[in-house]
Amino acid sequence: MKIDSANAFQTLSGLLDDDVAAVETLLTERAASPVSVIPNLSGYIVSAGGKRLRPLITLAAAKACGATEMAPVHCLAAAVEFIHTATLLHDDVVDESDLRRGKPAAKNVWGNSASILVGDFLFARAFTLMVETGRLSVLDILSNASSVIAEGEVHQLAVMGQLDLPTEEYLRIIEAKTAALFEAASESGAVCADAPEEQVRAMQAYGKNLGLAFQLVDDALDYGGTTSVIGKSVGDDFRECKITLPIVIARRRGSADDKVFWDRALNPETQEDSDLAHAIHLIRSTGAAKDTLAEARSYVEIAKKSLKTLPASPYRDALSSLADFCVDRAY
Ligand code: IPE
Ligand code: IPE
Ligand code: MG
Ligand code: MG
Repeated sequence: MKIDSANAFQTLSGLLDDDVAAVETLLTERAASPVSVIPNLSGYIVSAGGKRLRPLITLAAAKACGATEMAPVHCLAAAVEFIHTATLLHDDVVDESDLRRGKPAAKNVWGNSASILVGDFLFARAFTLMVETGRLSVLDILSNASSVIAEGEVHQLAVMGQLDLPTEEYLRIIEAKTAALFEAASESGAVCADAPEEQVRAMQAYGKNLGLAFQLVDDALDYGGTTSVIGKSVGDDFRECKITLPIVIARRRGSADDKVFWDRALNPETQEDSDLAHAIHLIRSTGAAKDTLAEARSYVEIAKKSLKTLPASPYRDALSSLADFCVDRAY
């Protein structure tokens, strides 16, 4: 079955109808607390939308690997989304971003402290949910991913302002901060289905490569997307002077004058409001945006190839279309 990538979400959500509903219920129930700021703030970000990409991958990976008992997989998928939500709450504080999922960031409503602390709460609740899967290997995979994500975020912080960041190092950062959770979401779904080792490794590779592609596209969209589509402010990375692949490529290919521009504009002391428009122009004219997306496409192809190890099923096809969607959303 070939599914149009634009419909990949609907197809996957349709196939997993009851499972998605069970996960949504867990996301609400497990954010309960007598301290009302906790359910208020978490309800705000959880109900603001979000693509639910990672829990969908967990559910579909489990089904594609033949899972029959879904209750533990629901706990796992909810844990994955809670970890993701916690990182977003922390991320908007760290990145000073004002818009998330098309709404003012939680930190703009409740403040930085509440945003960080509720993020910690959701992280902790994710661990309770993992224990409920009854599998130590799931805890192993997700606790390891959690530390790798934090490592990636700190690594990114440490290279702030390093304009000649090698592509390899950029890739290691996005592999840690983003691909690690995709990888863990996919791998642990297969583990929960008691899949044979070969299928677990295939799902792990699928998640990791899809995660790399996803962040590459996200980094391209920060310069080429529209706020209404991405639900975040265009140019957030630029204002924060974050070094991402579109910048690395555009600067490398630029003239001497362009290099002077990049070095001034990507310094928080000297950046001017009008610089973003010129940055977008250079990223387009040097082909940096196109090549960032081409790099993403190559990881999507690797992710799709990994799926060949799994038996044919509508879930496997939907995972393949979902991978296409992750790049197609940029066009
Ligand atoms: C945002 O992820 C964080 C990144 C890794 C770029 P998503 O784009 O999946 O966020 P939501 O859940 O759909 O809001
Ligand atoms: C995404 O970080 C990864 C994590 C949240 C750990 P970004 O800062 O690149 O993502 P957006 O653009 O804010 O969603
Ligand atoms: Mg951010
Ligand atoms: Mg960030």
